[in-house]
Amino acid sequence: MMTTMKNSLLIAIVSLAIFSAYSGKNEAVAATPNAVIPANLATGEKVFKSTCSICHKTGLRGAPRMGNKLDWESRLAQDKEILYDHAINGYRGKKGNMPSRGSNTKLTVEEVKASVDYMIEHAIPSWTMEK
Ligand code: HEC
Repeated sequence: MMTTMKNSLLIAIVSLAIFSAYSGKNEAVAATPNAVIPANLATGEKVFKSTCSICHKTGLRGAPRMGNKLDWESRLAQDKEILYDHAINGYRGKKGNMPSRGSNTKLTVEEVKASVDYMIEHAIPSWTMEK
């Protein structure tokens, strides 16, 4: 008797956990398809300043410079997922080598994405994501 009750309680808890994880995820996707969350930009700024700015401020090693329209125009025209992928996994382009996570292996995927969001926001003055 006791075991049956325990089991159904366990099932209820597990289903609730699965349900909330699932609906929580859906909500996040629906609410922010392309939008940037301000808290995320703050994280992005921190990561950018500590890791990415080394190259992306001055154009070291061929990196596209922040605030430079020519450097960013064609890059921003790409799908955001490509920019995320290139920043997370790294790639070799025509200008040089973008190291995976800017060579900072401590960064999480979320932190790298936040720094890409921050870069997109500041890459070209007056550029908005909802172009
Ligand atoms: C060691 C220098 C270096 C560091 C550090 C660095 N990058 Fe880069 N990044 C590059 C270079 C070089 C390119 C251009 C490669 C090319 O297209 O030829 C690039 C390109 C990019 C692009 C454009 C990708 C595209 O598809 O056009 C993004 C986005 C980017 N970096 C994000 C980041 C982020 C985010 C960080 C910090 C977490 C970072 N980078 C740190 C060198 C660097």
